[in-house]
Amino acid sequence: MEQTLLRIDASIRYQGSYTRELGDYFEQRWLEANPGAHIIRRDLNADPLPHLNGPLAQAYFAGNREAEILETSNLLCEELQHCTHLLLTCPMYNFGIPSTLKTYLDHIVRVQETFKPLAGGGYTGLLQDKQCWLITARGGSKAYVPFDAFGSYLSGILAFMGITEPGIIAMENTQQEHFAGDWPFTYRQQVDQMLAAALRTTH
Ligand SMILES: Cc1cc2nc3c(=O)[nH]c(=O)nc-3n(C[C@H](O)[C@H](O)[C@H](O)COP(=O)(O)O)c2cc1C
Repeated sequence: MEQTLLRIDASIRYQGSYTRELGDYFEQRWLEANPGAHIIRRDLNADPLPHLNGPLAQAYFAGNREAEILETSNLLCEELQHCTHLLLTCPMYNFGIPSTLKTYLDHIVRVQETFKPLAGGGYTGLLQDKQCWLITARGGSKAYVPFDAFGSYLSGILAFMGITEPGIIAMENTQQEHFAGDWPFTYRQQVDQMLAAALRTTH
């Protein structure tokens, strides 16, 4: 399969966005490691998707993939199925993921497209062949909140679709003054290490 990186960004910022900037660095380094490979970018902030609604959810389970209402969802599922690598950059907003990313997930977490039921009960993910990286940022720290719905939600939903071991860079305290001191070197190093580890497993 042709090497294709699907990059999905969700920050509402362009100037000063840590997730987007580290995503750019990742993309550049990934291309150096995979010369000639393709990159598909989906900017959920610039091009927000329509929200899930009743007729759309019904169509997911109705078994007619050709239904007009499924056009956008089909396109997004195919984009994901055809990529070999996935990069998701995601800030924390109000303890959770951006609503644009939740809407995207509502289009692609789809039976027979990204997961399927098992005969004996339960489900299996259909994206097991993807290599995935997750770049997240939060202004504060895990230590300040009584629950971490953010990280466990993202890892959990990826695992449900078969992506069980994403490489994760989780930036914390981006709104603290000292963060700028670590930035960007520490995180660029993490990107380099993750890509080197990925290359070792694939070559
Ligand atoms: C509307 C909004 C809500 C936010 N909510 C949280 C939050 O609940 N917890 C937190 O630690 N940081 C929160 N932040 C801070 C962002 O997570 C932080 O600025 C992060 O770096 C944003 O990603 P970016 O730099 O890629 O834009 C919030 C920021 C905004 C704009």
